[in-house]
Order: sequence, then structure tokens, then C-alpha cells
Amino acid sequence: MGRTKIVAGNWKMHGSLDQNQALLEVVVSETRSMQNASCVVCVPYPYIPQAKSLLQDSHVAWGAQNISQHHQGAYTGEVSAEMLAEFGCQYAIVGHSERRLLFGEGNKVVAEKFKAAQQCSIIPILCLGETLEQRESGEAEQVIAGQLDAVIDLLGVEALERSVIAYEPVWAIGTGKTATPQQAQDVHKFIRNRIAMQNERVADDIRILYGGSVKASNAVELIAMPDIDGGLIGGASLVAEEFISICMATQN
Ligand code: PGA
Repeated sequence: MGRTKIVAGNWKMHGSLDQNQALLEVVVSETRSMQNASCVVCVPYPYIPQAKSLLQDSHVAWGAQNISQHHQGAYTGEVSAEMLAEFGCQYAIVGHSERRLLFGEGNKVVAEKFKAAQQCSIIPILCLGETLEQRESGEAEQVIAGQLDAVIDLLGVEALERSVIAYEPVWAIGTGKTATPQQAQDVHKFIRNRIAMQNERVADDIRILYGGSVKASNAVELIAMPDIDGGLIGGASLVAEEFISICMATQN
């Protein structure tokens, strides 16, 4: 059997109790027929109890968008993996490019966050991706390799077994510019090959999601590529019909 696909919504700092409820109710009902694929929503922290209660007993899982690398202590404003695990959190995005670029998270910190998540049985969704400048200067692969190797160096390649990777070219996030299916496939293959150099089984099993302006209109082509195992969806995850169509694109 091949890899099970995943469609994960990243709500970022959007939502309200009313909007979330309306969105989650239709997503749960309209994606009920999904088979061999997972649907996840990564919500802002205050909405976790709401997501937990609306999604319990459903096929839709929920996760966090960030996690502290620390377990507890004097870290004002931070939220630990232990706290999230108390609520039954299943996934946490780590190293999203907005965290890297706007909040100064480097590769080492991202690797520590990855570790903290796994220590609490939370599946990290590790984001990798290059900026436009890096792509244009031919450094994309080197940048992505550095982001990936930071985790492998800290935890060993086997740690990737209980994780998901998301390739998100920074130039495609929220810009409406999607990588072409072939451009994305090339990078996904690069990532898988790099893991395979150390462990082929881990490379075969790991789900690599594409993120960056995925919409209902381009999801089918992207997800059809051999090394693209689903999507990490920002803007379109807030629009019920869009998100549902992207989830259903895994069923082709
Ligand atoms: P986008 O965001 O789908 O709005 O481009 C993707 C992401 O940042 O995860």
C-alpha cells in the first residue's frame, strides 16, 4: 500500500468562535467519505478546546501551529508540547517560514521543537522551503538540505518516521503563485532522495506535503505527482468549499 495522503489546514492567525464552528461543521460533514487520507486543521491556541470538542469522534484531526522547544519554565507567552498533549493534540507545525522569517527561528531551534513535539507523541509537520532570492541564486537545494539536516543531525534519520514534511517555497505562500507540479515534484524528490541516502525505508514511508497557494483549482494536479503526498493549506483552508475540494482531491 502506498503512503496515505494528508491535507492539513493552517489557519494562521484567523478565525473566531462563530466562523470556526461554521467551517468545522461543514468540513466534517462534507469530507466524511474520504478514504485512506487524513484531514487535519491547525488552529490558533485559544481555539483548541473548541476544535477538540467539535472534532471529537470525527475523522478530522487537529493540531497546533507552533510549539515551544522548552518543557516548562520562565518563557512568557510560550506553549509546551506537554500542555498541548493534555488536550490530545496530534500534530504541530514546526519551522513554518513565517516563524523562521518573522520570529527568527533558526534550524537548530526548529529541530528542538521537532524533538519536543515527538517527546509528547505529537507528530511534527516540519516545514522546509527557500525564498525567491535563494531560488534565483541557485541555492534552493542547499537551503532545504540544511533545514532537513538540522533535524537529522539532532535526532537521527529514524526520527523522521513519526513526522510529516511540508515543502513550502516561501515565494508561493499567500502570493497566489504556486510552484508548478513539476517544480514541486523536483524538490519533493530531492528531499526524499536525501533521506534515502541514510534510510530508504524512512524515505519511502514519509509523507511530503506541498504548501504555497494550493487551491481547489490546482490541488488535483499537484497531488497527482508521485512524491507529493498531500498539502499544507493556508488561505484556502478558511474557505469551506475550497478546503473540502482540496481534501477530496486526494481521492482521485
Ligand atoms: P497559503 O499558505 O496556502 O495561503 O499560500 C500556505 C502556508 O503558509 O502553509
